[in-house]
Amino acid sequence: MTGSSTDATALSALPVGMFDSGIGGLTVLHECLVALPDEDFVYFGDTARFPYGPRSRAELELFADQIARFLEQAGVKLIVVACYSATAAALPSLQERFATPIVGVVTPGARAAVQTSRYRRIGVMATEATVESESYVHAIRGLDAGAEVHQQACPGLAEYIQDGDVASREVADAVRAYTVPLKQKRPDVVIMGCTHYPLIAPLLQRHLGRDVTLVNPAAEVAHEVEEILDRRGIARREEREGEYRFFCTGDVESFRAVGARFLQMPLEDVTHVPLERLADLRP
Ligand code: DGL
Repeated sequence: MTGSSTDATALSALPVGMFDSGIGGLTVLHECLVALPDEDFVYFGDTARFPYGPRSRAELELFADQIARFLEQAGVKLIVVACYSATAAALPSLQERFATPIVGVVTPGARAAVQTSRYRRIGVMATEATVESESYVHAIRGLDAGAEVHQQACPGLAEYIQDGDVASREVADAVRAYTVPLKQKRPDVVIMGCTHYPLIAPLLQRHLGRDVTLVNPAAEVAHEVEEILDRRGIARREEREGEYRFFCTGDVESFRAVGARFLQMPLEDVTHVPLERLADLRP
């Protein structure tokens, strides 16, 4: 065996790392479990610092750097930034600093939207951090310079979905308030540009109407992860069921309870990581 194929064989046995501001990235993990059932995954939820949406780029760059370092030291073969706000603020700086391949969630959704849109009017629902970064505008225009991009920031919506029931009054009111101005732009495709929104896809569809196609970027992300692992020869190709480990910076029991609701399976192996430990990680 050549040196590089030995490396690839050793790498293929490692888990895929993934992180998010908290629980929401489990909607991205779900799609990866569907596409890559034989892979192991390590998921990191920064629940103590949720939500990321109202935070500055500098803060998100720092948090993303700390968590990517944690995952790299845990020994992962690829990192998925399973958070739209963190991808929008920090993906380029992460890719510059880390040797491990890093995949974000913005570009895959932009590609799916451009491929789906007939009238080239694309709506984006996302957090304040994602909207302010204009990442979707750049990603969509990079693929179709003539496309219209209409962004709608949805402050509070992820928190309402996480805190309560997806059918709560707060969620319903927020969806109404945010879809009214977006509908006026007459998009034919709307990207659910936040990890929590696929959980309320039926409600969004009702408010946006049947002429709008909703894009859940998570399926595209899973596809991209699969392609990268295959191209690098580091995919796990065995008849086995992957193993999943979870880390969170906040309360373990509430991570387990809310996480099981998001992922629709019990989260057994959950470990608490104190924020001080993240701050102490050195390159
Ligand atoms: N994961 C975050 C995102 O997709 C959820 C919202 C937040 O943390 O504010 O942007």
